[in-house]
Amino acid sequence: MPVQLWYDPVEIPDAPPPELNASTHRSRLALERVLADPDDDKTWEELAVTYDEMAPEWTEWAVEQPWYAATVAAGLQHARPVEWIVEIGCGTGQATELLARVGPPVVATDVNVSMLTGAPALPHVAYVAADVRRMPFRDGSVPLLVSLNGVPDFREFGRILGVGGQLLWCTSFGPGTPLYLPPDRVADMLGPDWTTEAGHAGHGDWILAVRTR
Ligand SMILES: C[S@@+](CC[C@H](N)C(=O)[O-])C[C@H]1O[C@@H](n2cnc3c(N)ncnc32)[C@H](O)[C@@H]1O
Repeated sequence: MPVQLWYDPVEIPDAPPPELNASTHRSRLALERVLADPDDDKTWEELAVTYDEMAPEWTEWAVEQPWYAATVAAGLQHARPVEWIVEIGCGTGQATELLARVGPPVVATDVNVSMLTGAPALPHVAYVAADVRRMPFRDGSVPLLVSLNGVPDFREFGRILGVGGQLLWCTSFGPGTPLYLPPDRVADMLGPDWTTEAGHAGHGDWILAVRTR
C-alpha cells in the first residue's frame, strides 16, 4: 500500500548529498537482512557494532552535512501534539536537538552508549540506552516515535504504538542513505491499519504514519 498523501518538497539544497555508496553499503545489506528476518540476531549485532565503531567521529561528520535533519523539522510540522516523544537510534543527537525544541519531554534512545555519550545535554531530554527491538515502554504507551536514519523493528513499533500513535520515519539523504527505507515501503510494512503522509526536505524524505486500529 503506497503512501496516501505526498507533500511538495521543502528546502531544496543547491549542493549534492554526500556519496555514501548507499545501495551496497554494509548497513543497507544488514538492514535488508533484518527486514527479511527480524530474528537475525547476528545481523542486529553487526549493525550495532558498525555504529559503535563510528561513534567517535559521528558528530564531526554529521554537523558538516547541510540539511541533515531537515526532514525531521518538516515531518514534525504534520504531527499531532503529544505529551511526550520517543526517539530511536538517536546517535549523537542531531534530530534530538530539534525534538527538544518542540516542547514535550523527549526520551532519546540508542543501542550504543558510545553514541549517547556524544549527544548534547538538552532541556527536557533523557537519554536512554535501548535496543529498538526491546524498547522500555509499555504496550500502546508511546504517542510519537521519531527516528532519523534509524533501524526499524516493525514488530516493536506495533507493540508500543497504540491507536492514535504516530511514527515519524526520516532520512537525511533519501535513497543515498545507507539505512534507507522508502516511505512507500514503510507504509507497506505497517499495513492497512495506518494512515500515511510523506514529503521531501533537504536531500531526504519523511513519512508520518498514524495508527487507526
Ligand atoms: C545511521 S545512525 C543514525 C544516528 C542519528 N539518528 C543520526 O541521524 O545522526 C544509526 C543509529 O542507530 C543505532 N542503532 C543500531 N542498531 C540499533 C538497535 N538495534 N537499536 C537501537 N539503535 C540502533 C546506531 O547506534 C546509530 O546511532
